[in-house]
Amino acid sequence: MLDLRRYVRDIPDYPKPGILFRDITPMLATPMLATPDALATATEALAKPFLDAKVDIVAAAEARGFIFAAPLAIRLGAGFVPIRKPGKLPFDMHSFAYELEYGTDELQIHVDGVKPGQRVLIVDDLLATGGTMEACCRLLEKCDAEIVGCSFLIHLVQLGGKERLNPYPVHTVLDYDQDDGETE
Ligand code: PRP
Ligand code: MG
Repeated sequence: MLDLRRYVRDIPDYPKPGILFRDITPMLATPMLATPDALATATEALAKPFLDAKVDIVAAAEARGFIFAAPLAIRLGAGFVPIRKPGKLPFDMHSFAYELEYGTDELQIHVDGVKPGQRVLIVDDLLATGGTMEACCRLLEKCDAEIVGCSFLIHLVQLGGKERLNPYPVHTVLDYDQDDGETE
């Protein structure tokens, strides 16, 4: 199988000194008809544990979560529901404030985005502290959704985000320890 790590670019000291930024844009830029295609491989890896989970909806927070959510929804035969930063959704919404790796933010979802009891898989590009995904879970709980799991492409293991998402099943494709920052 394609080594997806080769398509994650490490940027030291971005967006501020001491942060090693995991840049997924190289993964998106391979032509769709290339063999193998990195985005298709990433989508398949994100979907793998949930192929038989009867997912109704894939939900994701903007912006990077959206990139993987749409192809994942198609792969799972599900719909897509956006979770957005303030000022972007036009209809009635639930809100949840949260802390992220570099500051604080708030996320919102339409009150009728997910129907009560619908089975939802939440996806994001990266799990760091888990604050973003925890906010997504709280929003979906407000919708009375059934959360079947959280799927991430990149997991910064040392930041403890996975524990924060307990008891929801968490699937991660690429696990990074603090000291393995160099790509081969
Ligand atoms: C990044 C990333 C995750 C989140 C992970 O999003 O895409 O959503 O941080 O961090 P956490 O686990 O500590 O919450 P960010 O809000 O920086 O911006 P973007 O997706 O809009 O680029
Ligand atoms: Mg994000």
